[in-house]
Amino acid sequence: MKRGLLLGAKPTYEAMYLFVEYFPFSIFLVVPVFPAIAGSAIAQGPKGEHLDLVINGVAGSAMQAFGRQLDPAQLASVVHYQRNAFGNDVGDMTQPQDVINISNGQ
Ligand code: HEM
Repeated sequence: MKRGLLLGAKPTYEAMYLFVEYFPFSIFLVVPVFPAIAGSAIAQGPKGEHLDLVINGVAGSAMQAFGRQLDPAQLASVVHYQRNAFGNDVGDMTQPQDVINISNGQ
């Protein structure tokens, strides 16, 4: 029994050792910092909420507000792409006018 525990502990210890040794890199393996766009509820949900998130960002996260960095045509393009690529297949169209409407609070 004791021997069995020790045999089980060795790989765990070695894994922990490697984890600590390579901490800056290993943290990216265990923390899903960037949520997947494939299958994302946002990218497959209401277009207005998707646009709102990309235009205004997510406070307190690495997801910045792109509303002032990209023009309406660029914003419409990336949102359209996220909704209809990566296996997502919403099948709708996102136009620059949609971006302008959301930016104006409509
Ligand atoms: C124009 C480029 C980008 C678009 C269109 C975009 C779009 C999105 C979308 C739709 C989500 C929600 C996903 C979900 O929760 O299902 C999201 C979340 C996130 N994005 Fe981006 N993204 C862009 C660029 C970036 C960049 C450059 C970074 C980091 C350097 C980033 C970091 C994040 C993070 C950390 C989240 C999770 C926010 C949270 O809910 O805590 N994104 N992004």
